[in-house]
Amino acid sequence: MILFCNKSNEDSLTEIKKAIKHSTLGSNALVIKNGLKIYKLNGWVSFLKNQMKFKNDDRQIVSEDNIERTVWWAIRYDKDRESVYTHSKTKQPLHNDNSWFSDPAEMVFLAFEKQALKGGQSTFYFLDRLIYDLEKEEKNLLDDLRHEEVIIRKDITGKYFNRTTIIKNDQIFWNYYRTIKDRPRIKQMCKKFFLFLEKKEKTKSVIKYRCNTNDILCFNDSKVLHGRLGFSALESGDRVLHQSMWYL
Ligand SMILES: [Fe+2]
Repeated sequence: MILFCNKSNEDSLTEIKKAIKHSTLGSNALVIKNGLKIYKLNGWVSFLKNQMKFKNDDRQIVSEDNIERTVWWAIRYDKDRESVYTHSKTKQPLHNDNSWFSDPAEMVFLAFEKQALKGGQSTFYFLDRLIYDLEKEEKNLLDDLRHEEVIIRKDITGKYFNRTTIIKNDQIFWNYYRTIKDRPRIKQMCKKFFLFLEKKEKTKSVIKYRCNTNDILCFNDSKVLHGRLGFSALESGDRVLHQSMWYL
């Protein structure tokens, strides 16, 4: 489910606070319509720190051997760097943002500085719905996802990695490309799950919503898989988002 908040005056910040609090539970994603018109990026940092009492996680694994510390991390279409999802205009498969940390921040905030002219819908597969679907259609796969331990790693310095089952109680940790697939059983499970998600993406189980420029999206990262559909872009900067991560 996606909830909306469409407020623009100071009095309504209490409503936004309530809606963000509700989204921490993980049963919905929240879209704060025109959120960037209420505050700029720095203003939201103060709001999340002072009003929500969240704690920022500034670890951004830029590449395999480069960790930068930054509160907001830009996801920008760049026509010269289209081979990575952060800069491409292709569809991004369902995943979690923080799956490679053993101590992940719960909340992800995405601020839309600029949405593409066409496409770029966000996709969501909420964990309760995913488990319901797996129970019905792929019971053995669900069992493997709950019991087979994997290592998810982006950073190769050895500092950050997550050793976990993909579904762990009421959380999910999934990034197909960053899961080490060094055993046939793991490789097979990951491939099967990837294909299952691709299939479900075309159904009502996966919710699609197109944010506009200035909207802010937030969700509890380990309670929902998210991705995006492809979009049209000609010039670098035709779609720009800013992401930040917060501990509750
Ligand atoms: Fe993401």
